[in-house]
Amino acid sequence: MKPVKVGICGLGTVGGGTFNVLKRNAEEIARRAGRGIEVVHIAMRSQNPQCDITGTPTTADVFDVVNNPEVEIVVELIGGYTVAKDLVIKAIENGKHVVTANKALIAVHGNEIFALAREKGVIVAFEAAVAGGIPVIKAIREGLAANRINWLAGIINGTGNFILSEMREKGRTFDDVLAEAQALGYAEADPTFDVEGTDAAHKLTILASIAFGIPLQFEKAYTEGITKLTTADVNYAEALGYRIKHLGVARRTEAGIELRVHPTLIPADRLIANVNGVMNAVMVNGDAAGSTLFYGAGAGMEPTASAVVADLVDVVRVMTSDPTNRVPHLAFQPDALSDHPILPIEACESAYYLRIHAKDRPGVLAQVASIMSARGINIESIMQKEVEEQDGLVPMILVTHRVVEAQINEAINALEALDDVVGSVVRIRVEQLG
Ligand code: HSE
Repeated sequence: MKPVKVGICGLGTVGGGTFNVLKRNAEEIARRAGRGIEVVHIAMRSQNPQCDITGTPTTADVFDVVNNPEVEIVVELIGGYTVAKDLVIKAIENGKHVVTANKALIAVHGNEIFALAREKGVIVAFEAAVAGGIPVIKAIREGLAANRINWLAGIINGTGNFILSEMREKGRTFDDVLAEAQALGYAEADPTFDVEGTDAAHKLTILASIAFGIPLQFEKAYTEGITKLTTADVNYAEALGYRIKHLGVARRTEAGIELRVHPTLIPADRLIANVNGVMNAVMVNGDAAGSTLFYGAGAGMEPTASAVVADLVDVVRVMTSDPTNRVPHLAFQPDALSDHPILPIEACESAYYLRIHAKDRPGVLAQVASIMSARGINIESIMQKEVEEQDGLVPMILVTHRVVEAQINEAINALEALDDVVGSVVRIRVEQLG
C-alpha cells in the first residue's frame, strides 16, 4: 500500500520533533499504521537546526501545504488562535484530516471546528494538545468509556510545574527558571499563558469536555496563576504537611461542573504532590475504575511529538472507515452532549488555606475563630508563627474544611475588616484528592 502523505505546518520545537520521530521510527510506525507515513511538504519560517529535511519540499506559506492536493493529513503546529484557525478550517474544507497540538485553538474554537469536520467527514485529532507525551485524551475518551467520571485534577502545565519545583527545591528565582523553560522550548510563545494559568485552562477545558460530555466552554473556566505565590506560603504549606501545585480541577456536582485552575495545597504524601519539573500528571476518578493517575513529560520536543505521531497513526488506521462510526471528537456522540452548566467560582467547593497577618494582641485568635464559626466554617488546623521582626505582626495560618467559595469570601471580608488584621488575607485552595 502507498504511504499516506502528510504536510507539516510549523517546524519549531514540536514540528521538528514530529519530523524526526516520523523519520527515525518510520519502519515501526508503518508496522503499526499498516502503511508508511511520508512527509511531503513542510511550511516553516526558518530552518530547525535539529532536523535534516533534505529532499522534502518546503514553503514559507502554510496555505501552500493546506492547498497541496497531494497532502492527505495536515499537521498544524504553528500555535495561536488566528492563522491556525484559518488554516485548520481551510484544511477541513479541502477534505483533509488534521492533527494539531494547539490547545488554545481547540479550547476556544473546537466546537465550530468539530462541527465542520463532521460535515466534511474528516478527523481532527488533538492528543498532543493536553499533557504532552501522556496519552490522557485517549485514556479518558476510550479507556475509561465505561465510567461516569466524577472528577479529574491535573498538573497540566510543564513550565509552571518546572518553575514551582525549582523554586522549592533549589531556591531559584521565578524569572531565572522561566528563562530556562523558554530556552528548553517548554514555555508558550507568550509565557504569561503558562504562569497565569491560561494554558492550563485551555487543557482543562478539553479534558472536562471529554470527561463529562459537555461542549468546550473555555470562557467559563476560572483561572488563577502562580505569580503571586510567596516562599512563605510554600514553607507554611510544607510545615502543615502539604505541597503547593498549580492544579486544574474539573468536578461534576449536582448543581453543575466546577472548572478551575489555581495554586492548590495537596497533602505531601499524594503521588501527584510529588510530580516535579516539567512532568505532568492527571488524576481521573470514575465510578467504576476509581482513581487513576496518568504521568509523563508535559512538554518538550519529542514527548509532544510522540502524541502527534500517535494521532497520525490513529488517523491512518481509520481514515478509510465510515465517518459516522469513528470515535467522536469529544468522546460523546455530538447529539448527546449535556448542557449541565459550568459553575461560577463562587459556587465551587473546596477547603482553604488562609494566611492572616495580625497584631500581636490578646483575643485576636478568638475573633478569627468566631468569624469562622459564625459562618459554619470548620477549622481543620491552625498555626500561629512567632512575631515577624520587620513589622511586629504575627502570621496566623488556618486550614479549613470544605466550604463553598462564597462563604469563604464573606469570612475573608470580615477578617480583613478587623482592626487587628493588617493587609489582605492570603487564600489558597486545598484539595485532598483522596
Ligand atoms: N507551555 C506548555 C507547558 C507546553 O509548559 O506545559 C505544552 O503544552
